[in-house]
Amino acid sequence: MSTRTFVIVVTLLSALLAGTVVGGYLIWSRTDQGGVAMIGGPFTLVDQTGRTVTQDTLKGKWSLIYFGYTYCPDVCPTSLSTMTLALEALPPEMVEKITPVFISVDPERDTVEQLALYHESFHPSFLMLTGTPEQVREAARAYRVYYRKAENDSATEYLMDHSSITYLMDPKGNYVTHFGHDVTAEGMAETLKKTIGG
Ligand code: NI
Repeated sequence: MSTRTFVIVVTLLSALLAGTVVGGYLIWSRTDQGGVAMIGGPFTLVDQTGRTVTQDTLKGKWSLIYFGYTYCPDVCPTSLSTMTLALEALPPEMVEKITPVFISVDPERDTVEQLALYHESFHPSFLMLTGTPEQVREAARAYRVYYRKAENDSATEYLMDHSSITYLMDPKGNYVTHFGHDVTAEGMAETLKKTIGG
């Protein structure tokens, strides 16, 4: 090919590549921001004392929100212990600004009484929430949480598959960040200090 044709081909290829990169970035950033905006939303549940709790109850304070179930053998107790230890590592005036929230994905077994019992093992400021299966489904949908009863023959002894993510929401109920289940109490406390400040 002639030099001129070569230059045109290279220019076209560069434009195509640039277009792909820019387009890819736009799609990525839109998905990312869209995903963030979609965490959180309306729910109506009941806490370990029988009080009704909605998304508005949580407003005015930061909230750490975790979905799980009290019969969980390992992942949930570990996550709730991490949250408890992170809160204990913070100065009291900062702890007052945070509500740790545990939302059950196992409403059949996690009654108000069961949550009250479970509550004794973790930080006293925890709100532990349950509801009807439909109310729990709504809350999980709002926070993009996955859960499913694991296949089992027993009606009372079963495991729940569920996402293990702790969300940090701001006092207006907006998503700020999240912690994976491998986060340490120190790591969580550091992020809370940086985000919430003194
Ligand atoms: Ni669990």
